[in-house]
Amino acid sequence: MLSALRSVFGRTSSIAGQLPAMSVRKIQAAGKSSSRLDGRVAIVTASTEGIGFAIARKLGLDGATVMVSSRKQQNVDKAVEKLKEDNINVAGMVCHVGKEEDRKQLIQETVDKFGKLDILVSNAAVNPIFGPIMEATEKAWDKIFDVNVKASFLLAKEAYPHLKNSHNGSIVFVSSVGGFVPLSGLGAYSVSKTALFGLTRALSVELGVENIRVNCLAPGIIKTHFSSAIWTSEAATERIVDTLSIKRLGQPEDCGGTVSFLCSDDASYITGEIILVTGGMQARL
Ligand SMILES: NC(=O)c1ccc[n+]([C@@H]2O[C@H](COP(=O)([O-])OP(=O)(O)OC[C@H]3O[C@@H](n4cnc5c(N)ncnc54)[C@H](OP(=O)(O)O)[C@@H]3O)[C@@H](O)[C@H]2O)c1
Repeated sequence: MLSALRSVFGRTSSIAGQLPAMSVRKIQAAGKSSSRLDGRVAIVTASTEGIGFAIARKLGLDGATVMVSSRKQQNVDKAVEKLKEDNINVAGMVCHVGKEEDRKQLIQETVDKFGKLDILVSNAAVNPIFGPIMEATEKAWDKIFDVNVKASFLLAKEAYPHLKNSHNGSIVFVSSVGGFVPLSGLGAYSVSKTALFGLTRALSVELGVENIRVNCLAPGIIKTHFSSAIWTSEAATERIVDTLSIKRLGQPEDCGGTVSFLCSDDASYITGEIILVTGGMQARL
């Protein structure tokens, strides 16, 4: 039997030899625990409102200790206060993901405070322009790619040694349905979100041997401040909802559970995947 499997899958590496035992332990542990992220430490960027906040809250409710962050101290303070009301073990700090010093401090302070890092959710994004892609200036293009793509990679790179030590690390990049189907007026932003699919796939291939899984969330239209230009008009909302299978816009909470699942042992054999949370928008086969 073993030789038949070897002939199908080729040679086994020493790492591959270690993984099944690790996975079996994780699967057994998952069966026993009701809080699937008990004992894990998570960072979520841009997490003082919207999708990031809902993700931080769900990770916390599922047992993780969470570090929230965004650019403004007062937003961080408010988010920490709200999450504490839910008895979540949480801390917060300022981190503008476009700033190297902030990124380094976010990772270091989390590890200093909580002793380790198991989960990185890279959620921050900007879109400074709306209109035809050919009208995008170089400055706007650079800003979109610096924050949405480069900062996501550099955060993952900064977190990597700690995720490696975790032996059960997980990275989730928050992309967008626009990465598959470019959103009208949001061409450059959509291209940056497609790049995150590539980053997810490339990192998942390299980091699997360290037992770090890398996945991607691609939300549809979720009712947040970021998407308010789309849903403040009732007519536009109706037009969008008409195209959906689930006849409502998404809420940030619709994203939290998916990310918690992806970071948990329930998803122990899932890596390099892009999960759409769109209420059924037509995005791919
Ligand atoms: N909403 C949607 O329909 C939708 C759809 C697809 C994908 N997405 C993606 O989901 C993610 C979150 O969007 P959202 O809709 O939840 O946005 P949101 O509700 O507007 O929340 C934005 C959050 O990001 C923080 N933030 C903004 N710029 C930041 C920066 N440079 N560094 C760190 N934090 C920053 C804000 O706090 P401060 O102001 O304090 O910094 C706030 O906490 C983005 O990646 C977006 O592309 C959203």
